[in-house]
Amino acid sequence: MKAWLLDSFSGIESLRLAETPAPVAGEGEVLVEVRFAALNPADRYLAEKQYPAKPPLPHILGRDGLGIVRGIGQKVSGFQVGQECIILRSEIGVNRAGTFAQFVTVPAESLAAVPDDWSATQAAGAALVYLTAYQALTQWTDLPAGIILITGASGGVGIASIQLARALGHTVVALSRSPAKRIDLQKLGAQYTFDPAEADWIKDLKSTIAPNRVDLAIDNIGGQLLPQVIQTLGDHGKVSLVGQLAGPVPQFNTATLFFRRLRLGGVAVGAYTPAETTDAWRMVVELLARVNAKPVVGRVFDFERLPDAFGWLAQGPLGKVLLRVRG
Ligand SMILES: NC(=O)c1ccc[n+]([C@@H]2O[C@H](COP(=O)([O-])OP(=O)(O)OC[C@H]3O[C@@H](n4cnc5c(N)ncnc54)[C@H](OP(=O)(O)O)[C@@H]3O)[C@@H](O)[C@H]2O)c1
Repeated sequence: MKAWLLDSFSGIESLRLAETPAPVAGEGEVLVEVRFAALNPADRYLAEKQYPAKPPLPHILGRDGLGIVRGIGQKVSGFQVGQECIILRSEIGVNRAGTFAQFVTVPAESLAAVPDDWSATQAAGAALVYLTAYQALTQWTDLPAGIILITGASGGVGIASIQLARALGHTVVALSRSPAKRIDLQKLGAQYTFDPAEADWIKDLKSTIAPNRVDLAIDNIGGQLLPQVIQTLGDHGKVSLVGQLAGPVPQFNTATLFFRRLRLGGVAVGAYTPAETTDAWRMVVELLARVNAKPVVGRVFDFERLPDAFGWLAQGPLGKVLLRVRG
């Protein structure tokens, strides 16, 4: 089969398209012919050795995908050859071979049916980002419907967070540096949008939502933005820390957490067990159906154009970036 191989942890640019033996489904596994794979920033981090996982090399990246069942290992029931399915967040593309290949073997417990009325491309890139957004929104036991601030809102996790937050009855405030994307984010369900590069964005936000304050921030950006985000929180406000696309927080004063009893909570979608993943995914699909929302697809690249696809992802496009693996 053809696959994009990572020979060393020297960055995404070193990936090479090569012939490699197709995998065979072992016990408890299903062999899937990949139709569409989706890109995530974490693929780049793993390729740059910035991620905890250090899989044996050569490694095949790619955590998300949709494909067709082509082989069924021993002790697997409930699957038919020819059936279409999606891959839920698992060790696929992390510590075992991923979806940037024509075939991938997947533990049966990490496969799910394509949700009703979703297209193949909508389904292919949804699992990782929606499961992450779901964890960010539901990891707090005391979060009644309130105001949710989302940074990096035009990204995969950001859009998923907007849609799920709306479905859960929250009011959504979304941050994006792009005027065009801010308009799109309002169409996707954000009630208010702001540009985090504007000097007065915090003041504007506070006056817009007064007398209320932000109840939960979902932060994908980190860097200098995180201390600013903390300023928008009300009493008992919370931050779900998802990513740090702008790098580490340069300076952080823990005293900013004291008086309003603020809490920070890390999000790790990989910490979900397979059973928790399946339960969370069922809730994601149900919540999206409740508000008639679907995953947003940005652009689909041919399999051979993986480097261009990563270049496009780095520009911060709206919607998921996919690879068409099977023509
Ligand atoms: N903790 C977990 O379990 C988990 C799971 C999944 C993802 N993640 C992490 O979460 C983060 C977001 O993932 P994603 O898939 O949503 O990313 P993405 O699709 O690449 O989008 C992120 C958005 O953030 C904004 N952005 C990018 N770089 C920025 C910078 N330097 N400063 C300010 N804004 C910036 C851009 O929006 P604008 O241009 O519109 O401002 C971009 O659209 C990544 O770091 C990812 O690795 C963590």
